[in-house]
Formats: sequence, structure tokens, C-alpha cells
Amino acid sequence: METELARSWAMERPVTSPFARPNGIRGRLAGRIMLWTNPQHVVLDNLEVRPGDRVLEVGYGPGGLVRLLVERTDAALIQGIDPSPDMRDVATRVNRVAAGEGRVDLRVGTAERTGLPDQSVDHVVSVNNVAIWPDLEAGLQEFHRVVRPGGTVVIAWHGGTDPSRIARSLRLPKDKLDRIEHGLEKLFSQVTRRQSKNLDIFRSR
Ligand SMILES: C[S@@+](CC[C@H](N)C(=O)[O-])C[C@H]1O[C@@H](n2cnc3c(N)ncnc32)[C@H](O)[C@@H]1O
Repeated sequence: METELARSWAMERPVTSPFARPNGIRGRLAGRIMLWTNPQHVVLDNLEVRPGDRVLEVGYGPGGLVRLLVERTDAALIQGIDPSPDMRDVATRVNRVAAGEGRVDLRVGTAERTGLPDQSVDHVVSVNNVAIWPDLEAGLQEFHRVVRPGGTVVIAWHGGTDPSRIARSLRLPKDKLDRIEHGLEKLFSQVTRRQSKNLDIFRSR
């Protein structure tokens, strides 16, 4: 799975950064840095979670957005899929109370293969991992399969109107952003694209 994951549909070279493939001590350190630095509030604002909703986060990393979902929404269940067992351990620790209560369920998996049943969640969200998936279209198909009809899919990647130095270095060129948008338009009836300060955000339903 490691070799398979190192390929990315959007990057020229294999992806080996500990932020993209968190593993071991460097991966855990990268996880801590992501927890401190990655803006997640703006993503939450794009989700509109209602009481009782079920939310799936793909590529949860150290679990910062999961924590916000726990604290700021009345979602009944927050599920997560990430290929890194180290991130699963970190994010479960960050959200240990909600995980202990069964409100948070974080597992190992990938965007292309979440392991969830068809139409089982109200929202799917992915922050800063779409460009490192091996197969964009397979991931989008999987999101479409697991979200209920009328549910929301939010995909965000580094970019935005006033990106930080890191977001600027990782932002995608127009043809790659268009490929995400067109891929979503093949599957969903409403697709919008907007920018926050540090993110390009696609919202579909
Ligand atoms: C840059 S981190 C972002 C973490 C978190 N979403 C955040 O914004 O802080 C990228 C995460 O995507 C995960 N990832 C890598 N390949 C993936 C894939 N094919 N499907 C889902 N997640 C993936 C990595 O393990 C890592 O935790």
C-alpha cells in the first residue's frame, strides 16, 4: 500500500513528505504541526452540519477538524478514514472522550476505499489531501457512493486568496483545479468553487 500511495494524480514526483505520508516520529511531529497550523474553522463553515448528522472526514491527519466537529456541532457520529495508523492513534487521542463515547470512530483506509456502506453519511469532507490521492476519479466516485442523496461533499486544498508561503508552494494549477471541478460535476448536480484565505474549496451536493 505504501508504494501505491506514493503515487499522486496531481504531483510529478512520488509524494514522500511526512505531512502527506505521516509515519513514525517524523510523521507524528508533522501531525502536531498540522494541528497547530492548519485552518479548519472555515471548512466547518462550509459544511452546515445539523443535529443528528453523520459526518465522514477523509484524511483526518491529527484530528483537528474532528475536534471542531465534536465541540461545535451536534453531529451524531463523526467517522474518519486515513491511511496512516500513526495519525489514527494521534487523532483518536486528541478526541479520546468522544471516541470513548462512540461519537467519534477513526479508522485506517483511503479516499478510494473508505469501507463505509452506500449512502451512509450526510457529509463527506476532505482537507489538504485531494492532491495526494493516487486516483482522483476513484476518490470522487467513492465520496458519491457513501454520501446520501442531497448530502454535502466538501473538498479543500491549499490555495486561496492570500495564501501563506506553504499554501502558495502547494497550490494547484488551473488545469488540476478544473479536473477536480469537472470530476465533481459528473457526479453531483450542484458544484461550487470558492476561496478562503488559504484554501480552494469545492462544495457539492
Ligand atoms: C497534509 S495532511 C492533512 C491532515 C488534515 N486533514 C489537516 O488538514 O490537518 C494529509 C493527510 O492525508 C492522508 N492521506 C494520504 N493519502 C490519502 C488517501 N489516498 N486517502 C485519504 N487520506 C490520505 C495522510 O495520511 C495525512 O494524514
